[in-house]
Amino acid sequence: MSLVEVENLHRVFRMGRGADDVTAVNRASFHIDAGEALGLVGESGSGKSTIARILVGLERADSGAVRIDGVDRLRPVHGRRARLARAQAAQMVFQDPNGSLDRRLSVTESLQRVLLLHRRVSGRVAARSEALALLDRVRLSERHAEAKPHELSGGQRQRVAIARALAVSPKLVVLDEAVSALDVSVQAQVLDLLGEIQRESGVGYLFVSHDLAVVQEICQRVIVLFRGGIVERGQTRKVLDAPDHPYTQLLLASTPGPDWKPERVAQARMTFTQRMSVVTEA
Ligand SMILES: Nc1ncnc2c1ncn2[C@@H]1O[C@H](COP(=O)(O)OP(=O)(O)O)[C@@H](O)[C@H]1O
Ligand SMILES: [Mg+2]
Repeated sequence: MSLVEVENLHRVFRMGRGADDVTAVNRASFHIDAGEALGLVGESGSGKSTIARILVGLERADSGAVRIDGVDRLRPVHGRRARLARAQAAQMVFQDPNGSLDRRLSVTESLQRVLLLHRRVSGRVAARSEALALLDRVRLSERHAEAKPHELSGGQRQRVAIARALAVSPKLVVLDEAVSALDVSVQAQVLDLLGEIQRESGVGYLFVSHDLAVVQEICQRVIVLFRGGIVERGQTRKVLDAPDHPYTQLLLASTPGPDWKPERVAQARMTFTQRMSVVTEA
């Protein structure tokens, strides 16, 4: 059994008023093993966030199955205990950490709340020392402990958001464009940290990003999403070095980098358009 098992996941947004419905997720199936980092890539609007949000219970699915650690995630849960248990299995880190951090609380207060809510510790003293240990784990010092979110840099805030996710010892952390808003050097540090945490704790990651360079840093395997459907999957090295699907080829050709060439993008776009028109006509 894999840590995460997703089968035929489907989600259509009904737009109403004669507008076309949007199939955000189109019969997607994939798995994540314990301790594995799976990359989920695709251009903006391809359905990445919808999948991420369904996994942590922030969005519902129309059909399909999602199991995390063997537990059905699509059935609605009732009661505080069940909700806490669900949150404990899978946590999410967003692009903008401000959404998950209370601006009135200091960094340690935020972490202490989560620890006490989930009964990871009993009593304030233990909560404080565990909060400091979590900060240490994301390489923030005691100097940051009493800071409010707005007093921190973007990279430091994202470290706090990661610490907050780790506070419940989740089996899975879903990271949705978690480093996309950071400068490249800060991005590298946070990716480094995420890799280290994964090796030490064996937590699984679903790592959502439009940036292939970032995915390459941290993910063992990757799936490529196009209009809600998975068009390619495999070992990250293999998919990025020798992509099979024209959409992956286009995605790679469009990525800025040392060997970015306008002719390559034009060529990839042509191959892609041809292949896709064949698919739609069929
Ligand atoms: N709550 C919503 N209501 C209507 N449409 C939505 C909603 N959330 C997402 N969508 C649409 O679903 C598609 C996939 O969106 P999303 O999952 O956010 O993609 P990504 O994260 O890859 O950019 C887009 O066309 C988007 O406009
Ligand atoms: Mg998104």
